[in-house]
Amino acid sequence: MLKVVVLVSGGGTNLQAVIDGVEEGSISNTEIVGVISNNKNAYALQRAKNHGIEAQCISPKDFADRGKFNEKLLEAVDGYAPDLIVLAGFLVVIPPAMTKRYRNRMINIHPSLIPSFCGTGYYGLKVHEAALARGVKVVGATVHFVDEGTDTGPIILQKAVEVQPGDTPEALQRRVMEQAEWKILPRAIDLIANGRVSVKGGRTVISGE
Ligand code: GAR
Repeated sequence: MLKVVVLVSGGGTNLQAVIDGVEEGSISNTEIVGVISNNKNAYALQRAKNHGIEAQCISPKDFADRGKFNEKLLEAVDGYAPDLIVLAGFLVVIPPAMTKRYRNRMINIHPSLIPSFCGTGYYGLKVHEAALARGVKVVGATVHFVDEGTDTGPIILQKAVEVQPGDTPEALQRRVMEQAEWKILPRAIDLIANGRVSVKGGRTVISGE
């Protein structure tokens, strides 16, 4: 059984897709053991509680400095002894010690086709604003392992989504979530839980495909 901790900051629709996948069985061999938010008002915390999943808030605002927050966050994650950490809209810089300890055991969902519209400053709606401003015709989402960089780790799955005439950033964000994020994040977890993802030379290999 893959023990998963999900880190969130906001609405938690990706968390919901993972919860639903586990409950419906499209994600097999997996248990969500905890949800951690940096934001006490995140609706994601409520989503976890609605499904009987332990949820807690660890906010940088409650600590004297970033180092103390990082220590506490890592301690809380370690407390669940997870096999996999899932960053599902977690908008906090990951402590370097966590990246090191959970190498190839921490994944992130990003709302673009990496390497487009990613890196520092590209998160949430900003990604979709930038895509519309550039006038690209195809966007999408990526699930990748987390390394020391921002959105630079080995790519696990990607899915493309077409831009429609008249799209607003909000409309595009919603379509990318519905058509890409909520599909590839659960799929990636299922693949990992069933031992089908390995990393070789900085790239992933998915077995049986
Ligand atoms: C999602 O679109 C996710 O891809 C994005 O934040 C949103 C969270 O929504 N993540 C990033 O931009 C990370 N760089 P949710 O809380 O409803 O899942």
